[in-house]
Amino acid sequence: MSKKANTFQTPIGTKDLLPGESARWNEATRQLGRIAERFGFSLIDTPIFEDVGVFSRIGEGTDVVGKEMYEFLDRGDRAMALRPEGTAAICRAFVQHRPLTPWKVYYTGPYFRYEAPQAGRFRQFHQYGVEAIGSDDPDIDVEVIALAWSVLQGAGLRETQLLLNSMGDPETKSRYQESLGEFLLNRLEEIDPADREKAKTHPLRALDSKREATQAVVSEAPLITEYLSTDAERHFDRVASGLKALNIPFALEPKLVRGLDYYTHTTFEFQSLALENAQNTVCGGGRYNGLVEQLGGPATPGIGFALGIERLLLACDAEGSFPSPPTTTEVWVIDVTDGSSARDLTNSLREAGVAADRSFDQRSMRSQMRSADRSGAAIALIVGEQELNESVVTLRKLRDDEAGQISIPRSDVVNEVRLILGLES
Ligand code: HAM
Repeated sequence: MSKKANTFQTPIGTKDLLPGESARWNEATRQLGRIAERFGFSLIDTPIFEDVGVFSRIGEGTDVVGKEMYEFLDRGDRAMALRPEGTAAICRAFVQHRPLTPWKVYYTGPYFRYEAPQAGRFRQFHQYGVEAIGSDDPDIDVEVIALAWSVLQGAGLRETQLLLNSMGDPETKSRYQESLGEFLLNRLEEIDPADREKAKTHPLRALDSKREATQAVVSEAPLITEYLSTDAERHFDRVASGLKALNIPFALEPKLVRGLDYYTHTTFEFQSLALENAQNTVCGGGRYNGLVEQLGGPATPGIGFALGIERLLLACDAEGSFPSPPTTTEVWVIDVTDGSSARDLTNSLREAGVAADRSFDQRSMRSQMRSADRSGAAIALIVGEQELNESVVTLRKLRDDEAGQISIPRSDVVNEVRLILGLES
């Protein structure tokens, strides 16, 4: 009896990034990095897992920490978590390394949340984010939002809207939380039963609810903008006028509280109008002036955002923007002798900076030609018995039906290819 081996699939809510899509992914992350650097941000990379305490500062009452965090004890019995987001970890790094301020960093990598997977919502997803730590200046809020705007524009997205709000300073936030809590408590019977507990314990979270009955109550709730202190209002006004000066359109959304507890003052989201409502937030961020201190550092303000790379690309699909970049293979070497010419020619081409590839396993001419076509290469170099004997190579331009083919001395072929590809200086 034959025993069948187990086969495995990717865990629920995760996916493989395969060749094809990976070229687009690579191009997207490269562009994102270039834009961040243009704004004066430098790359940072922190561990994928951290002490669980780093992330509990996001708020025990938030879904991200309370319900979705991948927590585990390592083999030394230390309580660890796979990072659910980047901001807390970067504030931990700020406290640990004490860099000069403002510390302007950007990051990209995988993040983990145990959520119910659906289109645009995964358990392992990828964020690109920036954090600017150490400045209270509202103009840095504008700079951070302008960076996100630039990323979305660069990806060709035209149907996004920027929602802007202020959570005020911690006093504003707690005064508002108190009166919102009171308001919701008085209307508890009208709130959807699934949201009642949240309305009692974390009233701000109830503002996020997508349930109709809750939304109806929330639509009459007091607004945080009515509670802003003079300083908080001044900060917010300067951000709004900065965005106007830079021609970045936005809408005020006083119910935008975001799903994480650390926010103070400016909060914002970019939503894609081309995506389904539930997962249409491509990018979200804001100020977190108390977080560094909560992680044991000196009182230090900070602001940043994170953008979901999967969601960015979904929004691009929905708008038909940011197509896959063209193939990188420029030359395909076809060798119908013993393969030595393919081995040596691809190597010489690669050393000369040309992206070259070949077939293996002594395939037939037809099969190698098919591979050359499929590769998207611009040029095929063909070596048969006759070419070998005469020390020449046959060059065929694959994207030009009229071009025919030419015979070139083997010793000239690398230079000739570089010339055709426009690589000659
Ligand atoms: P966040 O709103 O939790 O904020 O996530 C930011 C973005 O990550 C979302 O807008 C979305 O595009 C993407 N995202 C979140 N969860 C998932 C998921 N399960 N599947 C796919 N994409 C997802 C933060 O994480 C904050 N750290 C942002 C920030 C930086 N605030 C200040 N600095």
